Amino acid sequence: MWLGACTIVIVSVICCLFVGSASAQTSAPSSAKKDFVLHCADCHGVDGKGNGPAVQVIPGFKPVDLTNLSKNHEGQFPRQDVYDIIDGRKRLPGHYDSDTDMPLWGLMFQPEGREFSKEAEEKVKARLSALVNYVEGIQQK
Ligand code: HEC
Repeated sequence: MWLGACTIVIVSVICCLFVGSASAQTSAPSSAKKDFVLHCADCHGVDGKGNGPAVQVIPGFKPVDLTNLSKNHEGQFPRQDVYDIIDGRKRLPGHYDSDTDMPLWGLMFQPEGREFSKEAEEKVKARLSALVNYVEGIQQK
């Protein structure tokens, strides 16, 4: 009886894990879009052109137009640079101006209480890479 109940619980947990990871995979592009709208659009604008609402609020604040990165790099999307800038840790310690500068997403996306564990780093990396793909997808031709 006990064994039966346990088996059911275990099987359903395993099922959930599978279903969960499968849907996480298929929803990757839209979750990057969600991340972008949620975390980047304030400054860079929903369209990425650098006209988010923060521009009106902070004087002299000009987040870059993210749609012409390829154009500015001879047609080549600067993938690694973009990743490093979004992650932000390479900008430490000197370049971080806490209010107006670009947030350090490699730190912001760390899960609370499990920061910098191997698992957390993998998740952060996947999330940042998805954002890089998203930014690559909005490049002007
Ligand atoms: C608080 C406002 C703010 C937010 C939010 C923000 N950024 Fe930025 N971002 C900036 C500013 C300002 C710059 C330019 C100055 C700098 O490089 O620090 C910048 C620069 C960049 C660059 C470098 C562009 C280049 O010219 O090489 C990329 C890529 C970028 N942001 C992507 C993102 C992404 C992706 C997000 C969301 C995860 C995001 N930003 C969120 C303000 C912001």
